[in-house]
Amino acid sequence: MRYLYQIAQLLPMSKKNQTLGEFIIENQAYFKYTSGELSRLINSIRLAAKVVNHEVNKAGLVDIIGAAGDTNIQGEDQQKLDVYANDKFIQTLTNRNIVCGIASEEEDDFISINSQDDNNQNKYIVLIDPLDGSSNIDVNVSVGTIFSVYRRVTPVGTPVTIEDFLQPGNQQVAAGYVVYGTSTMLVYTTGHGVNGFTLNPAIGTFYLSHPDMQFPENGNIYSVNEGNYIHFPKGVKNYIKYCQMEEGDRPYTSRYIGSLVSDFHRNMIKGGIYMYPKSSKKEEGKLRLLYECNPMAFLAEQANGKASDGFKRILDIQPTELHQRVPFFCGSKNMVLKAEEFMQNTD
Ligand code: AHG
Ligand code: MN
Ligand code: MN
Repeated sequence: MRYLYQIAQLLPMSKKNQTLGEFIIENQAYFKYTSGELSRLINSIRLAAKVVNHEVNKAGLVDIIGAAGDTNIQGEDQQKLDVYANDKFIQTLTNRNIVCGIASEEEDDFISINSQDDNNQNKYIVLIDPLDGSSNIDVNVSVGTIFSVYRRVTPVGTPVTIEDFLQPGNQQVAAGYVVYGTSTMLVYTTGHGVNGFTLNPAIGTFYLSHPDMQFPENGNIYSVNEGNYIHFPKGVKNYIKYCQMEEGDRPYTSRYIGSLVSDFHRNMIKGGIYMYPKSSKKEEGKLRLLYECNPMAFLAEQANGKASDGFKRILDIQPTELHQRVPFFCGSKNMVLKAEEFMQNTD
């Protein structure tokens, strides 16, 4: 009890209009490990986000949109801004000697970072989806960046190994996203709630605009690519029918942007469920466990929401591969519970 009281004393009141820089410094003492390394890491993500935001914003003006001609490891066409965002985040984290390893949707393998003296003392690894929803860029619809941070499990000072990246989501020390929308926001958690910061583009500063974000326990939005309906498992079909049924507060509203970050962000504010189930076409689902589902699941739980693969908690899945896919149900607690109920009761 006394300990809890002391922690409460340490936690500064989050103040609206506080800048992200001020917030990071004020909250540093509240991190479990207070070397300042995690603060520097979040700071460099903030910097890379501003650079990528600038580029995303002028995508309609310059000839940067369109496929870069490459195909990424998932067999998808790579957009030029995917490559740009990937390079910027990796460069920022590497040049500032802040992490010891990075894995990205756009890289086949993880990257081990050695400092000049080949004795990297950094403890953190980062996994990123540098540009999420990239097929939306050339039609001027919101995209995002997702990041996930862990402490390495192998000894400091040695090269990172795959073991450092294949940790269950419940070991994350920080996670967040940037949404490049009608305004640009950085939303993140270090395990003490979720806070959202909005960029003032005139002066390039993020301000705390959404302190302590929470999913409403119940919502009335369901977000799923219904074009795949015919291929969905019976439980998902039945849950969708339930959402559309006229009863109580239903039918719910259907909203699907096709950009996980934007769909999640809207649902967290308004209350809703996002689903990317497995299907007869995509046996594992589509979304990647390590740099899409785990960070979003961590944020969801920190915001009083829930994230599941339809049967069990996303954060407890032991990953086996860097680019592993997993079915994903995430959002308002009672809605995810209801979807799980339908999954369980249908063969
Ligand atoms: P990415 O652009 O990083 O490949 O991710 C796209 C993801 C996710 O953001 C989105 O919700 C989903 O793919 C959309 O998939 P469908 O077009 O199959 O609905
Ligand atoms: Mn993505
Ligand atoms: Mn992506």
